[in-house]
Amino acid sequence: MKISVIGAGYVGLTSAACLAEIGHTVRCADNDERKLDVLRGGQLPFFEPHLEDLVTRNGKAGRLRFETTENAVADAEAIFICVGTPPLDNGEADLSAVANVARTIAQRATGYCLVIEKSTVPVQTSQQLKRQLQLYSNKGLRCDLVSNPEFLREGSAIEDFFHPDRIVIGVEREEVAARMREIYRPVLEQTFQCPVHAECTAHKTPAWIVTDPSSAELIKHASNSFLAMKISFINMVADLCEAVGADVTKVALGMGMDPRIGPAFLNPGIGFGGFCFPKDVQAFVRIAAKAGCDFSLLKEVENINKRRIERFVEKVRKELWVIRGRKIAVWGLSFKPNTDDVRFAPAIELLRLLVREGAEVSAYDPQANDKAKAVFPNARYCADPYEAAQDAEALLLATEWEEFRRIDWQRLRDAMDRPLILDGRNTLDANELTGHGFNYVGVGRPAVAAKTNVPAADSAIEPTNAVKGLAETR
Ligand code: UDX
Repeated sequence: MKISVIGAGYVGLTSAACLAEIGHTVRCADNDERKLDVLRGGQLPFFEPHLEDLVTRNGKAGRLRFETTENAVADAEAIFICVGTPPLDNGEADLSAVANVARTIAQRATGYCLVIEKSTVPVQTSQQLKRQLQLYSNKGLRCDLVSNPEFLREGSAIEDFFHPDRIVIGVEREEVAARMREIYRPVLEQTFQCPVHAECTAHKTPAWIVTDPSSAELIKHASNSFLAMKISFINMVADLCEAVGADVTKVALGMGMDPRIGPAFLNPGIGFGGFCFPKDVQAFVRIAAKAGCDFSLLKEVENINKRRIERFVEKVRKELWVIRGRKIAVWGLSFKPNTDDVRFAPAIELLRLLVREGAEVSAYDPQANDKAKAVFPNARYCADPYEAAQDAEALLLATEWEEFRRIDWQRLRDAMDRPLILDGRNTLDANELTGHGFNYVGVGRPAVAAKTNVPAADSAIEPTNAVKGLAETR
């Protein structure tokens, strides 16, 4: 099918490349000319595993090219709207980019096409879109609106496109759902050469959910808000565990065994970030308020999340006593691993609070150093984790990159001024670390002191205050 994708961000570029990979002829458009030039030059504006290969391969095969919106909408059979819906000051989603695309489609598209809303939008946006298209159409455009929310996660976006749990379609007429099924047929039947897994077997067939547009729009906001709620819930349980000397990893394990709860998204830490959860929770609260529903539960989900960084800094303060003038290393800057995205990243807020309190912060991220430096220049960004930890009195882990599990701990210990690690993602092995003479403080887990039979490095092994505190409680 001749498909156009408007918006070359995470959702748009990924969808465009994947739709081309399953055989469609795709034009991907963006109103940012510089971004189009970067893409036409074969570069990507962000890091996403496997995406560069897909863009290059499908570009070479003539199935993917980059266009202006005006050209892209001209004679498409289906147009995916994938532009950003960032938060306005009042927390509502900014729909101006969506409205602009609707106008361009109305004025430039001809004949019949599907207009598919993939951006995350408030409920009933498709009705507004329909009105806009009718209002501004001057070329006798005939179209059907579809709500097709996106569930891809950054860092695993390609895998999520090819192996989704479900594909949700919100339509007003059955025939339109049939046309959408044609677009996704290779994914639904899992009949494609998988760009992610060499041995791509035993992937379950995605569920195909056909409903009305408003329900489809709500599925997206409700799903993200529920996942965010799960994270804030386990973060509160972690705080409780710290207060009573229990271990949240065990609690989460026990909870997650119940299939009604499930183990996913029960990892406590320094809070959720990224360009989705924070803004979608806010937007959902606003949507509900406009409909006369006080979604107080989600307001508390936000409040709990906002307090995570301050609570983590309080732990650092407790260990170091004074933060001003201290050398502190921070590992991980992106809002999650396998992406260079630092939007609403808890790690950036952590840098901000530490520097504001007078710490000397050296930071490292496998992919996001440049983007972090662009939004927060007041830290020292290092080329590798050891450089960041050089002479540090504490090492804080903010993003659980795999790389941080494969560290030469002896080399790290020799580099640091004090072998103290505060793990904001419970991702490191406390036993292994204490075996190398580190003191370890996790989230919602009992702090662990360095094993004393470890040959002393030049840095003194001072039991952590958390450990001392525990000795007292025990
Ligand atoms: C999310 C949704 O998962 C995805 O379906 C939707 O399409 C877009 O929004 P994404 O923002 O890429 O995807 O990240 P996700 O993997 O969901 O993580 C969001 C945040 O929650 C990250 O900051 C992550 O560190 C945090 N998180 C996640 C936790 O703190 N604990 C967990 O157990 C899981």
